[in-house]
Amino acid sequence: MSTPVHTIPHFTSHAGLQLPQIGFGTYKLNGRAGVESLVNAAKTGYRLFDSAFNYENEGTVGRAVTKIADKQIAAREDITVASKLPGRHHDHDQALYTIEESLYRTGLDAIDLYLIHWPNPITNKYVEAWRALIQAQQNGLVRHIGVCNFLPEHLERLANETGVLPEVNQIELHPYYPQAELLEYDRAHGIITQAWSPIARAGTLLTEPVITQIAAAHGRTPTQIVLRWHTQRGAMPIPKSANPGRQAENLHVFDFELTEEEVLAITALGRADGRMKDQDPAVYEEF
Ligand SMILES: NC(=O)c1ccc[n+]([C@@H]2O[C@H](COP(=O)([O-])OP(=O)(O)OC[C@H]3O[C@@H](n4cnc5c(N)ncnc54)[C@H](OP(=O)(O)O)[C@@H]3O)[C@@H](O)[C@H]2O)c1
Repeated sequence: MSTPVHTIPHFTSHAGLQLPQIGFGTYKLNGRAGVESLVNAAKTGYRLFDSAFNYENEGTVGRAVTKIADKQIAAREDITVASKLPGRHHDHDQALYTIEESLYRTGLDAIDLYLIHWPNPITNKYVEAWRALIQAQQNGLVRHIGVCNFLPEHLERLANETGVLPEVNQIELHPYYPQAELLEYDRAHGIITQAWSPIARAGTLLTEPVITQIAAAHGRTPTQIVLRWHTQRGAMPIPKSANPGRQAENLHVFDFELTEEEVLAITALGRADGRMKDQDPAVYEEF
């Protein structure tokens, strides 16, 4: 089961970046097996691969993208490779150095989307890091720039102090943590919201009665219902799967629609302590 690429709709940022409404997470996909997983994902129809300096798999992703282009599964320019700057490299010069290292690890000519991985507001160097991303974009190392785990207060500082607003904000987002306010903030500012851990790592969420009942009503799997919930709320999930069958299942969600009531019923699973690991970006620091 592969989803024809032309049937995957897009989200567009304030600066014109177009991303498919579902991307592919790559955390824990490394080495030869990782390359094979990504090549299969591209055959299935995925066109965005989400990596990070800290996943230690930028080489895997770059090798896979080269293979995908060589085998004419997809042209290089039709694929978005994303990576992220770790918290320990927020100093301006270190950030530039790290972005260049990311790029060399991929072996590609440029990284399509580069994100700050966490704001680390206690360290308080994210504006400096953002200036480095802006410079890397001007230098052609990266094509588009964005952030992860940024709250409105962090986004506003970037806009006020640099005049450049991120095109993407990748945040923890799933039915246990639906983030309605941040989603609306991003939407109002033309920032594409990407959802990490979009199926809450396939735990209890997928056996929640509200989800299994909606799945039965549509003849779909619980995972497909959750992924459709994301896209209908205007967020782009980036599920990770090493399994070809599940990769196909996760992408095959654009030929049915949830009702407004179903979307709201799933959102009602949200709770204040719904984060997977209590990583509150207002205080959490990741290096
Ligand atoms: N910016 C950040 O701070 C941040 C943080 C965390 C993650 N991320 C990104 O977000 C991506 C996705 O998040 P995640 O990997 O944490 O969690 P996830 O995508 O919610 O869940 C992945 C887990 O679900 C399983 N799975 C996938 N599809 C399934 C299906 N249809 N049915 C049953 N199980 C299924 C996978 O196993 P199999 O592989 O065996 O299918 C894997 O164990 C990451 O890979 C990474 O790229 C970013």
